[in-house]
Amino acid sequence: MTDLTTLEADVLAQVAAAGDLAALDAVRVAALGKTGSISGLLKTLGSMSPDERKARGAAINLLRDRVQAALNDRKAALETAALDARLASETLDLTLPAPRRRRGGVHPTMQTMDEMVAIFAEMGFAVAEGPDIEDDFHNFTALNFPPKHPAREMHDTFFFNPKESGERMLLRTHTSPVQVRTMVSQKPPIRIIAPGRTYRCDSDATHTPMFHQVEGLVIDKGIHMGHLKWTLETFIARFFETDAVTTQFRPHHFPFTEPSAEMDVQCDRTGGEIRIGQGTSWLEILGCGMVHPNVLRACGIDPDEYQGFAFGMGVDRLGMLKYGMPDLRDMFSSDGRWLDHYGFSAFAAPNAASGLS
Ligand code: PHE
Repeated sequence: MTDLTTLEADVLAQVAAAGDLAALDAVRVAALGKTGSISGLLKTLGSMSPDERKARGAAINLLRDRVQAALNDRKAALETAALDARLASETLDLTLPAPRRRRGGVHPTMQTMDEMVAIFAEMGFAVAEGPDIEDDFHNFTALNFPPKHPAREMHDTFFFNPKESGERMLLRTHTSPVQVRTMVSQKPPIRIIAPGRTYRCDSDATHTPMFHQVEGLVIDKGIHMGHLKWTLETFIARFFETDAVTTQFRPHHFPFTEPSAEMDVQCDRTGGEIRIGQGTSWLEILGCGMVHPNVLRACGIDPDEYQGFAFGMGVDRLGMLKYGMPDLRDMFSSDGRWLDHYGFSAFAAPNAASGLS
């Protein structure tokens, strides 16, 4: 029996020495595998006498069971150790400060737009809408842009590939096509504003390829330039919440208005900041004028009976002036830090009764 005792001691020592699951499995195969040392002993039973075989067989089986039990114990111990090591290395330090979660807010452009809508609603304007993808007729032709006229190029238009018919759709370069859509579908008197996105191939500190405008249109009998000036000046004073803002009207040209003007706001742009009510700079914020008789005619309105004024103002630029942002491009760069700084609470919707900003 000494050979069995020696073998057992030998295998059990190997089991105890196995440092990981792979080494332990190698010990198991070497002892209990098909060609293992213990399995080999069982094969010698065949050549023994029945009595010898009985005694020896029982002893080998007991040996095998003890080895198997030792293997199981060692396996369990190694698994526990491996788990403990993982738990120790994969700890989460709950004492670290949690990363700050960004709260959603209202983008300054949307805030500015809501403020504008609130002011014009108070003056009796309704809100009208039109598509961002326009056709040549609504964006140019009905607005009295002659065919092939350089004014079409002046707008740095984004065109789509031509359709089979040869017609080229475009991203509207201004909200003025909504004037056309409104005049074609409604009878005067008309008093609407049309807020929305507009697109031009242009980019610098005061231009972005996508920007926002609010169009205004008033059509009625006896409308004149004085109504236009009063409306815009009243709007500006309400919007900036002060009478201290200085504006100037400059004669300009638009194919769809006659006479036409642009309105600038006085500001100071030194030191990378923008301040209103002071300084020697002017920032153009809107185009305006009396609706051209050709536009009225193209929309089925008799210019001898009705007149009107229209304006188109840059929403982002007005927001930039009011809230002191130096660069228009930051508005659309989706920088979380910028949005945190300039964004507005969703619970403070502007309205005429509780305040605009
Ligand atoms: N559509 C003009 C622009 O985008 C602005 C404008 C609107 C001018 C209405 C006159 C009347 O520049």
